[in-house]
Amino acid sequence: MDEADIPRVAEIESLQNQVPWSAQSFADALRYGWHCRVLKDAAGLVLGYCVTMTAGDDEELLTITVRPDLTRQGLGKLLMQEVLAGAQQRHAGQIFLEVRESNQGAIRLYEQMGFKIGGMRKNYYPIPADPLMLRPAGREHALLMSLSLGEAQP
Ligand SMILES: CC(C)(COP(=O)(O)OP(=O)(O)OC[C@H]1O[C@@H](n2cnc3c(N)ncnc32)[C@H](O)[C@@H]1OP(=O)(O)O)[C@@H](O)C(=O)NCCC(=O)NCCS
Repeated sequence: MDEADIPRVAEIESLQNQVPWSAQSFADALRYGWHCRVLKDAAGLVLGYCVTMTAGDDEELLTITVRPDLTRQGLGKLLMQEVLAGAQQRHAGQIFLEVRESNQGAIRLYEQMGFKIGGMRKNYYPIPADPLMLRPAGREHALLMSLSLGEAQP
């Protein structure tokens, strides 16, 4: 990912996430030297992206997203393979992530890659109010998942 990708990345982010990162957050991630990757088609259009950061001897997956019209076509798995390959190159011992308890699709993807649930942060994520559904703002638990890189699935 570079600066030029950020407007499109932020647009996809706003379509796919309840509490999206801003364009500034992605710019900061680049500035901090976090590992920001984009998946593009042959014409250079952004299909998805992921951001990880090195945390001591380990790595943390901060965000991963696929364009809404392109989900369930294997692109999330491709991005996760990129996450694993990058972490292995950097000799990370484990990869950690947090995921909304309700995000069963993402949880299944992570489990497919070999991640295991190791804990929970109660009421961690905000749920924005939805006036159309008459739903007030709330909170949701986060599941903590991790993968020891020796156990990564191919
Ligand atoms: C989560 C996300 C990245 C998955 O990307 P994707 O391209 O759809 O994933 P893939 O097509 O590679 O799916 C791989 C496997 O994950 C599981 N999976 C992915 N999405 C799923 C869904 N909605 N329901 C059930 N299983 C799902 C399936 O096991 C799938 O394999 P299959 O299609 O052969 O059954 C994508 O749905 C997304 O961008 N979601 C919004 C952002 C988000 O929630 N990110 C994660 C934050 S922690």
